[in-house]
Formats: sequence, C-alpha cells, structure tokens
Amino acid sequence: MAVNSKSLNLSEMMEKENLIDTIDKCRLPKHIAIIMDGNGRWAQQRGEQRVFGHHNGVQAVRETAEAAAELGVKFITLYAFSTENWNRPKEEVDALMQLLVITINGEIKTLNDNNIRLRVIGNVQDLTPQVKKELEEAMEKTAGNTRMDLFLALSYSGRWEILDAIKKVAAEVKEGKLDPEQITEKMVSDHMNAPDLPDPEILIRTSGEYRTSNFLMWQTAYTELFFSPKLWPDFRKEDLYEAIIDFQHRERRFGKTSEQIINCKG
Ligand code: FPP
Repeated sequence: MAVNSKSLNLSEMMEKENLIDTIDKCRLPKHIAIIMDGNGRWAQQRGEQRVFGHHNGVQAVRETAEAAAELGVKFITLYAFSTENWNRPKEEVDALMQLLVITINGEIKTLNDNNIRLRVIGNVQDLTPQVKKELEEAMEKTAGNTRMDLFLALSYSGRWEILDAIKKVAAEVKEGKLDPEQITEKMVSDHMNAPDLPDPEILIRTSGEYRTSNFLMWQTAYTELFFSPKLWPDFRKEDLYEAIIDFQHRERRFGKTSEQIINCKG
C-alpha cells in the first residue's frame, strides 16, 4: 500500500514536470484573468455550507498565484466578488467579507516573500470598512513588489467599470476639456480602473459553466476563453499550466486571416 501510494505520487510529480516543460516560456501570456466558480457546489457535494467552499478556495488562489509568478506571468486578475454577489443571502456575503479580511491580512507575508504586488479593481467604496482597511494596508505593504501584480476584482462588474469610465469621460466633455468627436478607444481604456493593466490573453472559468458573467467586458474583446470542468477549490498549478498550453496552441487572428498571421511570423 505504502509502495503504491509512493509510486503514484512519483508519477504524478513526473506528469507535473512534463506539463510545465511543454510551456513555451517565450510566449507566456502577460495577463491571465480567472473566474473562480464552483465553491458553493464543491461544499454542497460534501454536505457542507457554501462558505466551506469559499474557505477551501483560498488554497486554489495561493497555488494559482504562486504558479503564475513562478512562470513569469506579470498580471493575474481574480474575480473574487461581483457587483451581483451583493444579492446573495446576507450570511454568505458577511462570511465572504470576513474571509477576505482574514485572507488578505494573512497573505501579506507570502505576497512579499514572493515579490507580488496586491491591487484591486471594483467599486471599493461599497466594501465593508474592515475589508477596505485590510486592503489598503496590504496594498501599501506590497506596493514595492515587482514580480507580478495580483489584482482582486471586488464589488466589480464589467458594466459597472465601463459606466464608471463613461462618467469620467463625460465629465471631461462637460468641463470643455474634451470634444466628443475626439474620444478614442485608448481614452476609454485610460479611464478604466487600472489603465496600466493590459488586456488578458486568457480568461479561465472553472466549474464547467460557459459564461463570462460581466467580468472585464471591455478588456476581453480578443481574449482566449478557457473553460475548466474543475470546481474552483480543486484548481491546482497543473490546471493553470493546462490552460496556458492550450492557449499556446491557438491561432490568435484579431480579425485577420490565417494567411496574414502565418506570413507575419515568417
Ligand atoms: C464563486 O463560486 C466564488 C465566489 C463568489 C467567491 C470567490 C472567493 C474565494 C475563492 C475565496 C477568497 C478569495 C480571495 C482572493 C481572498 P460560487 O459560490 O458561485 O459557486 P457555485 O457556482 O458552485 O454556487
């Protein structure tokens, strides 16, 4: 029995090695966005309350962030709490806020050890004072880190962010600083929550659901979508590697023809 479980671990380790070795390090995505879905179902499958799934989702967050940073990915954005999530039962919202406070506070050292900067997008004003306080502290303490930016999307939705950008642009028009005819896509991008955040090359959604659920709507116009059947608490480093490998086998045409892309490469 001991021999079997040992050899299983060994072959699992070799599989992991092989998977990571097939990633082309020269064509890594700069930005990976993730919809972490399936926590509730993961808990329910175990006869537990939904919040048990959220707690177990934290380990998947750690693994994913670590794997992305180790590979050399520069940005990851995690959809941690949507605008629509405020409509969940109060106990679940309270538990999620509490979990955010504990997790953010508890991860500062690991973020610093791994040279990862914590940042946020979303309607932060709506978060509880305690979450805001922990966030500000964690962002301040990790501000000097340069290996990777880990963005949490909190009280976030793509439509909210676009609306927010429209309001800022409209205010500039009202002040006479901007002619509506002069508004460009770049200007709109510059009014998003984090203008320096490049569009994600990959958007991963777990739990076998095929939707983008109001996440980074402006930024994902040409993003490659990857749907994993895994429930978020089961998501591990190898699952991230798999998504990256899949992405690296795709032809990204951005509206051009396949021949144009191949000729460019040559
Ligand atoms: C969606 O699963 C998940 C959430 C709404 C919360 C995500 C939060 C975490 C992973 C924990 C904390 C994260 C950080 C970054 C500190 P769901 O509840 O919709 O699952 P279901 O579709 O199975 O119901």
